[in-house]
Amino acid sequence: MVNRVLMWAAASPRLQRQVTENPVARRAAHRFVAGARLEDALEAAAELNSRGIGSILDLLGEGVEDLSGVGHAVAEYEEATQAIAAQGLDSTISIKLSQLGQTVDRDACVANLGRILGGAKAVGVRVEIDMEDSTLVPDTLELFREAATAHPQTRLAIQAMLRRTPLDLEALAPLKPRVRLVKGAYAEPVELAQQGKGEIRAQFKFLTDWLFRHGVDPAFGTHDDELIAHARKAAVQAGKGPEDFEFQFLYGIRRDLQRELVDNGHRVRVYVPFGSAWYPYLTRRMAERPANLLFFLRALVGR
Ligand code: FDA
Repeated sequence: MVNRVLMWAAASPRLQRQVTENPVARRAAHRFVAGARLEDALEAAAELNSRGIGSILDLLGEGVEDLSGVGHAVAEYEEATQAIAAQGLDSTISIKLSQLGQTVDRDACVANLGRILGGAKAVGVRVEIDMEDSTLVPDTLELFREAATAHPQTRLAIQAMLRRTPLDLEALAPLKPRVRLVKGAYAEPVELAQQGKGEIRAQFKFLTDWLFRHGVDPAFGTHDDELIAHARKAAVQAGKGPEDFEFQFLYGIRRDLQRELVDNGHRVRVYVPFGSAWYPYLTRRMAERPANLLFFLRALVGR
Protein backbone atom coordinates (compact mmCIF):
# COMPACT_ATOMS: atom_id res chain seq x y z
CA MET A 1 0.00 0.00 0.00
CA VAL A 2 2.72 2.50 1.09
CA ASN A 3 4.67 1.35 -1.92
CA ARG A 4 1.79 2.11 -4.32
CA VAL A 5 1.23 5.55 -2.79
CA LEU A 6 4.92 6.33 -3.21
CA MET A 7 4.92 5.18 -6.82
CA TRP A 8 1.94 7.50 -7.37
CA ALA A 9 3.79 10.30 -5.58
CA ALA A 10 6.84 9.72 -7.80
CA ALA A 11 4.70 10.52 -10.84
CA SER A 12 2.81 13.53 -9.44
CA PRO A 13 4.15 16.84 -10.81
CA ARG A 14 2.09 18.87 -8.29
CA LEU A 15 3.48 17.04 -5.27
CA GLN A 16 6.93 17.22 -6.83
CA ARG A 17 6.69 21.02 -7.02
CA GLN A 18 5.51 21.32 -3.42
CA VAL A 19 8.20 19.05 -2.00
CA THR A 20 11.15 20.29 -4.03
CA GLU A 21 10.43 23.93 -3.24
CA ASN A 22 10.71 23.15 0.45
CA PRO A 23 14.27 23.93 1.69
CA VAL A 24 13.99 21.44 4.57
CA ALA A 25 13.04 18.68 2.12
CA ARG A 26 16.04 19.61 -0.01
CA ARG A 27 18.33 19.19 2.98
CA ALA A 28 16.75 15.84 3.91
CA ALA A 29 17.31 14.58 0.36
CA HIS A 30 21.04 14.89 0.90
CA ARG A 31 21.31 11.52 2.52
CA PHE A 32 20.74 9.96 -0.92
CA VAL A 33 21.86 12.72 -3.29
CA ALA A 34 25.39 14.15 -3.29
CA GLY A 35 24.22 17.72 -3.87
CA ALA A 36 22.86 20.09 -6.48
CA ARG A 37 26.14 20.79 -8.31
CA LEU A 38 28.64 18.72 -10.29
CA GLU A 39 31.31 19.81 -7.79
CA ASP A 40 29.32 18.08 -5.02
CA ALA A 41 29.31 14.84 -6.99
CA LEU A 42 33.03 15.10 -7.78
CA GLU A 43 33.75 15.64 -4.08
CA ALA A 44 31.67 12.58 -3.18
CA ALA A 45 33.50 10.56 -5.87
CA ALA A 46 36.91 11.63 -4.52
CA GLU A 47 35.85 10.66 -1.00
CA LEU A 48 34.67 7.23 -2.22
CA ASN A 49 37.91 6.76 -4.18
CA SER A 50 39.89 7.50 -1.01
CA ARG A 51 38.18 4.43 0.52
CA GLY A 52 38.97 2.21 -2.48
CA ILE A 53 35.47 2.58 -3.98
CA GLY A 54 34.72 3.70 -7.53
CA SER A 55 31.78 5.91 -8.46
CA ILE A 56 29.14 6.42 -11.12
CA LEU A 57 28.05 10.04 -11.56
CA ASP A 58 24.38 10.45 -12.42
CA LEU A 59 22.87 13.83 -13.28
CA LEU A 60 19.32 13.60 -11.98
CA GLY A 61 16.55 14.22 -14.49
CA GLU A 62 14.36 11.99 -16.61
CA GLY A 63 11.26 11.89 -18.77
CA VAL A 64 11.84 15.26 -20.42
CA GLU A 65 8.83 16.44 -22.39
CA ASP A 66 10.53 19.08 -24.48
CA LEU A 67 14.08 19.51 -25.65
CA SER A 68 14.77 22.82 -23.91
CA GLY A 69 16.68 21.36 -20.97
CA VAL A 70 18.36 18.55 -22.86
CA GLY A 71 21.27 20.65 -24.11
CA HIS A 72 22.06 21.57 -20.53
CA ALA A 73 22.08 17.88 -19.47
CA VAL A 74 24.41 16.97 -22.35
CA ALA A 75 26.76 19.84 -21.51
CA GLU A 76 26.74 18.84 -17.84
CA TYR A 77 27.68 15.26 -18.74
CA GLU A 78 30.45 16.50 -21.01
CA GLU A 79 31.77 18.66 -18.20
CA ALA A 80 31.53 15.70 -15.82
CA THR A 81 33.61 13.42 -18.06
CA GLN A 82 36.24 16.16 -18.52
CA ALA A 83 36.42 16.72 -14.78
CA ILE A 84 36.64 13.00 -13.98
CA ALA A 85 39.57 12.69 -16.37
CA ALA A 86 41.27 15.90 -15.22
CA GLN A 87 41.02 14.89 -11.55
CA GLY A 88 42.08 11.29 -12.27
CA LEU A 89 38.97 9.90 -10.56
CA ASP A 90 37.87 6.29 -10.80
CA SER A 91 34.38 7.12 -12.02
CA THR A 92 31.98 6.36 -14.83
CA ILE A 93 28.88 8.37 -15.75
CA SER A 94 25.36 6.98 -16.03
CA ILE A 95 22.64 8.45 -18.20
CA LYS A 96 18.93 8.01 -18.70
CA LEU A 97 17.95 8.14 -22.36
CA SER A 98 14.65 9.85 -21.53
CA GLN A 99 16.79 12.69 -20.17
CA LEU A 100 18.33 13.05 -23.63
CA GLY A 101 14.95 13.42 -25.35
CA GLN A 102 14.21 9.76 -26.22
CA THR A 103 10.43 10.13 -26.09
CA VAL A 104 10.31 13.58 -27.72
CA ASP A 105 12.75 13.40 -30.59
CA ARG A 106 14.55 10.10 -31.04
CA ASP A 107 17.03 11.46 -33.60
CA ALA A 108 18.04 14.19 -31.18
CA CYS A 109 18.45 11.56 -28.46
CA VAL A 110 20.71 9.46 -30.71
CA ALA A 111 22.81 12.54 -31.54
CA ASN A 112 23.06 13.50 -27.86
CA LEU A 113 24.04 9.99 -26.86
CA GLY A 114 26.69 9.91 -29.60
CA ARG A 115 28.07 13.24 -28.39
CA ILE A 116 28.36 12.05 -24.80
CA LEU A 117 29.87 8.69 -25.80
CA GLY A 118 32.37 10.30 -28.15
CA GLY A 119 33.43 12.92 -25.60
CA ALA A 120 33.75 10.32 -22.84
CA LYS A 121 35.80 7.98 -25.02
CA ALA A 122 38.18 10.81 -25.96
CA VAL A 123 39.09 11.29 -22.29
CA GLY A 124 38.96 7.59 -21.33
CA VAL A 125 35.79 7.68 -19.23
CA ARG A 126 33.24 4.85 -19.46
CA VAL A 127 29.50 5.40 -19.87
CA GLU A 128 26.62 3.44 -18.36
CA ILE A 129 22.99 3.60 -19.46
CA ASP A 130 20.21 3.27 -16.88
CA MET A 131 17.11 1.24 -17.68
CA GLU A 132 13.80 3.03 -17.19
CA ASP A 133 10.20 1.82 -17.15
CA SER A 134 9.00 -0.98 -19.44
CA THR A 135 7.63 1.34 -22.14
CA LEU A 136 11.21 2.45 -22.83
CA VAL A 137 12.91 -0.95 -22.64
CA PRO A 138 12.70 -2.04 -26.32
CA ASP A 139 14.05 1.26 -27.63
CA THR A 140 16.73 1.45 -24.94
CA LEU A 141 17.93 -2.04 -25.91
CA GLU A 142 18.04 -0.95 -29.54
CA LEU A 143 20.00 2.21 -28.77
CA PHE A 144 22.36 0.26 -26.52
CA ARG A 145 23.01 -2.25 -29.31
CA GLU A 146 24.05 0.61 -31.63
CA ALA A 147 26.07 2.34 -28.92
CA ALA A 148 27.89 -0.82 -27.81
CA THR A 149 28.86 -1.70 -31.37
CA ALA A 150 30.80 1.58 -31.68
CA HIS A 151 31.70 1.89 -27.97
CA PRO A 152 32.05 -1.62 -26.48
CA GLN A 153 32.91 -0.17 -23.06
CA THR A 154 29.30 0.99 -22.63
CA ARG A 155 27.35 -0.73 -19.88
CA LEU A 156 23.56 -1.19 -19.79
CA ALA A 157 21.33 -1.68 -16.74
CA ILE A 158 19.08 -4.72 -17.12
CA GLN A 159 16.09 -5.40 -14.86
CA ALA A 160 15.75 -8.92 -13.42
CA MET A 161 12.06 -8.44 -12.58
CA LEU A 162 10.95 -8.13 -16.21
CA ARG A 163 9.72 -11.39 -17.73
CA ARG A 164 11.28 -10.50 -21.08
CA THR A 165 14.81 -10.05 -19.72
CA PRO A 166 16.22 -13.59 -20.28
CA LEU A 167 15.27 -13.35 -23.96
CA ASP A 168 16.64 -9.82 -24.23
CA LEU A 169 19.96 -11.00 -22.87
CA GLU A 170 20.06 -13.99 -25.23
CA ALA A 171 19.56 -11.54 -28.10
CA LEU A 172 22.46 -9.39 -26.83
CA ALA A 173 24.78 -12.39 -26.28
CA PRO A 174 26.71 -12.03 -29.58
CA LEU A 175 27.72 -8.52 -28.44
CA LYS A 176 29.25 -9.92 -25.21
CA PRO A 177 27.36 -7.18 -23.36
CA ARG A 178 28.53 -5.24 -20.34
CA VAL A 179 25.57 -5.31 -18.00
CA ARG A 180 24.60 -3.84 -14.65
CA LEU A 181 22.07 -6.32 -13.31
CA VAL A 182 19.42 -4.75 -11.03
CA LYS A 183 16.06 -5.93 -9.69
CA GLY A 184 14.12 -3.05 -11.31
CA ALA A 185 12.82 0.08 -9.60
CA TYR A 186 9.56 0.77 -11.48
CA ALA A 187 6.00 -0.37 -10.71
CA GLU A 188 5.17 -2.74 -13.57
CA PRO A 189 2.03 -4.83 -14.23
CA VAL A 190 2.05 -8.53 -13.43
CA GLU A 191 1.88 -9.46 -17.14
CA LEU A 192 5.26 -7.81 -17.66
CA ALA A 193 7.11 -8.32 -14.41
CA GLN A 194 7.56 -10.74 -11.53
CA GLN A 195 6.03 -9.23 -8.39
CA GLY A 196 7.19 -11.55 -5.61
CA LYS A 197 10.52 -11.02 -3.86
CA GLY A 198 11.35 -14.75 -4.16
CA GLU A 199 10.64 -14.86 -7.89
CA ILE A 200 12.67 -11.73 -8.57
CA ARG A 201 15.57 -13.12 -6.56
CA ALA A 202 15.40 -16.44 -8.45
CA GLN A 203 15.52 -14.64 -11.80
CA PHE A 204 18.36 -12.39 -10.56
CA LYS A 205 20.40 -15.49 -9.63
CA PHE A 206 19.69 -17.16 -12.96
CA LEU A 207 20.80 -14.01 -14.81
CA THR A 208 23.90 -13.68 -12.61
CA ASP A 209 25.00 -17.16 -13.71
CA TRP A 210 24.20 -16.25 -17.33
CA LEU A 211 26.32 -13.09 -17.17
CA PHE A 212 29.33 -14.98 -15.86
CA ARG A 213 29.06 -17.25 -18.91
CA HIS A 214 28.15 -14.75 -21.65
CA GLY A 215 28.81 -11.21 -20.43
CA VAL A 216 31.92 -9.13 -19.98
CA ASP A 217 32.81 -7.55 -16.66
CA PRO A 218 29.33 -7.88 -15.14
CA ALA A 219 28.16 -5.48 -12.43
CA PHE A 220 25.62 -6.46 -9.79
CA GLY A 221 23.60 -3.45 -8.62
CA THR A 222 21.99 -4.71 -5.45
CA HIS A 223 22.13 -4.32 -1.66
CA ASP A 224 20.58 -7.73 -1.13
CA ASP A 225 22.90 -9.93 0.95
CA GLU A 226 21.52 -13.14 -0.56
CA LEU A 227 22.16 -11.98 -4.13
CA ILE A 228 25.62 -10.67 -3.32
CA ALA A 229 26.50 -14.02 -1.71
CA HIS A 230 25.17 -15.81 -4.79
CA ALA A 231 27.27 -13.67 -7.15
CA ARG A 232 30.42 -14.35 -5.12
CA LYS A 233 29.77 -18.09 -5.22
CA ALA A 234 28.80 -18.09 -8.91
CA ALA A 235 32.01 -16.23 -9.77
CA VAL A 236 34.14 -18.92 -8.15
CA GLN A 237 32.16 -21.65 -9.92
CA ALA A 238 32.67 -19.85 -13.25
CA GLY A 239 36.42 -19.58 -12.58
CA LYS A 240 36.29 -15.77 -12.25
CA GLY A 241 38.34 -13.70 -9.82
CA PRO A 242 37.23 -10.55 -7.96
CA GLU A 243 38.82 -8.43 -10.72
CA ASP A 244 36.37 -9.88 -13.30
CA PHE A 245 33.19 -8.28 -11.95
CA GLU A 246 31.96 -5.55 -9.62
CA PHE A 247 29.28 -4.75 -7.08
CA GLN A 248 27.40 -1.49 -7.39
CA PHE A 249 25.54 0.34 -4.64
CA LEU A 250 23.38 3.44 -4.40
CA TYR A 251 24.80 6.47 -2.61
CA GLY A 252 24.04 6.46 1.09
CA ILE A 253 22.95 2.82 1.27
CA ARG A 254 24.69 -0.11 3.05
CA ARG A 255 28.08 1.50 3.62
CA ASP A 256 28.89 -1.37 6.00
CA LEU A 257 28.52 -3.90 3.21
CA GLN A 258 30.50 -1.75 0.76
CA ARG A 259 33.41 -1.72 3.21
CA GLU A 260 33.21 -5.45 3.87
CA LEU A 261 33.34 -6.22 0.14
CA VAL A 262 36.30 -3.89 -0.44
CA ASP A 263 38.11 -5.47 2.53
CA ASN A 264 37.54 -8.86 0.91
CA GLY A 265 39.19 -7.74 -2.34
CA HIS A 266 36.04 -7.01 -4.36
CA ARG A 267 35.55 -4.10 -6.72
CA VAL A 268 32.80 -1.78 -5.50
CA ARG A 269 31.30 1.22 -7.28
CA VAL A 270 28.72 3.64 -5.87
CA TYR A 271 26.08 5.43 -7.94
CA VAL A 272 26.28 9.13 -7.02
CA PRO A 273 23.22 11.15 -8.06
CA PHE A 274 23.51 14.92 -8.20
CA GLY A 275 21.41 17.85 -9.45
CA SER A 276 18.21 19.58 -8.50
CA ALA A 277 15.78 17.06 -10.06
CA TRP A 278 15.98 14.62 -7.15
CA TYR A 279 12.29 14.07 -6.46
CA PRO A 280 11.46 10.99 -8.64
CA TYR A 281 14.77 9.37 -7.64
CA LEU A 282 14.11 9.85 -3.95
CA THR A 283 10.51 8.61 -4.05
CA ARG A 284 11.70 5.40 -5.79
CA ARG A 285 14.21 4.89 -2.95
CA MET A 286 11.39 5.32 -0.42
CA ALA A 287 9.19 2.84 -2.26
CA GLU A 288 12.02 0.29 -2.00
CA ARG A 289 12.32 0.84 1.70
CA PRO A 290 9.48 2.65 3.50
CA ALA A 291 11.83 3.19 6.49
CA ASN A 292 13.43 5.87 4.30
CA LEU A 293 10.08 7.65 4.22
CA LEU A 294 10.12 7.86 8.02
CA PHE A 295 13.68 9.18 7.89
CA PHE A 296 12.61 11.83 5.40
CA LEU A 297 9.48 12.83 7.32
CA ARG A 298 11.45 13.08 10.58
CA ALA A 299 13.99 15.34 8.88
CA LEU A 300 11.11 17.47 7.57
CA VAL A 301 9.69 18.08 11.03
CA GLY A 302 13.18 18.59 12.44
CA ARG A 303 13.40 15.50 14.73
P1 FDA B 1 16.03 -4.84 -1.83
O1 FDA B 1 15.22 -3.63 -2.16
O2 FDA B 1 15.32 -6.09 -1.50
O3 FDA B 1 17.04 -4.46 -0.66
C1 FDA B 1 17.87 -5.37 0.00
C2 FDA B 1 18.38 -4.70 1.25
O4 FDA B 1 19.18 -3.56 0.91
C3 FDA B 1 17.27 -4.12 2.12
O5 FDA B 1 16.78 -5.07 3.02
C4 FDA B 1 17.97 -2.97 2.78
O6 FDA B 1 18.77 -3.46 3.84
C5 FDA B 1 18.88 -2.44 1.72
N1 FDA B 1 18.23 -1.41 0.87
C6 FDA B 1 17.75 -1.55 -0.38
N2 FDA B 1 17.25 -0.41 -0.87
C7 FDA B 1 17.40 0.48 0.12
C8 FDA B 1 17.07 1.85 0.24
N3 FDA B 1 16.47 2.52 -0.75
N4 FDA B 1 17.38 2.46 1.40
C9 FDA B 1 17.99 1.80 2.42
N5 FDA B 1 18.31 0.49 2.36
C10 FDA B 1 18.03 -0.15 1.24
N6 FDA B 1 16.78 0.23 -11.21
C11 FDA B 1 16.30 0.39 -12.46
O7 FDA B 1 15.14 0.08 -12.70
N7 FDA B 1 17.11 0.91 -13.44
C12 FDA B 1 18.41 1.22 -13.22
O8 FDA B 1 19.10 1.67 -14.14
C13 FDA B 1 18.92 1.04 -11.90
N8 FDA B 1 20.21 1.37 -11.61
C14 FDA B 1 20.73 1.04 -10.38
C15 FDA B 1 22.07 1.23 -10.12
C16 FDA B 1 22.62 0.80 -8.93
C17 FDA B 1 24.08 0.99 -8.67
C18 FDA B 1 21.78 0.16 -7.96
C19 FDA B 1 22.35 -0.36 -6.67
C20 FDA B 1 20.45 0.02 -8.18
C21 FDA B 1 19.89 0.46 -9.38
N9 FDA B 1 18.53 0.34 -9.63
C22 FDA B 1 18.06 0.54 -10.90
C23 FDA B 1 17.59 0.08 -8.51
C24 FDA B 1 17.25 -1.39 -8.37
O9 FDA B 1 16.46 -1.81 -9.45
C25 FDA B 1 16.50 -1.65 -7.06
O10 FDA B 1 15.29 -0.95 -7.08
C26 FDA B 1 17.27 -1.25 -5.81
O11 FDA B 1 18.63 -1.58 -5.93
C27 FDA B 1 16.71 -1.99 -4.58
O12 FDA B 1 16.81 -3.39 -4.75
P2 FDA B 1 17.88 -4.32 -4.00
O13 FDA B 1 18.42 -5.27 -4.99
O14 FDA B 1 18.89 -3.50 -3.30
O15 FDA B 1 17.02 -5.21 -3.03
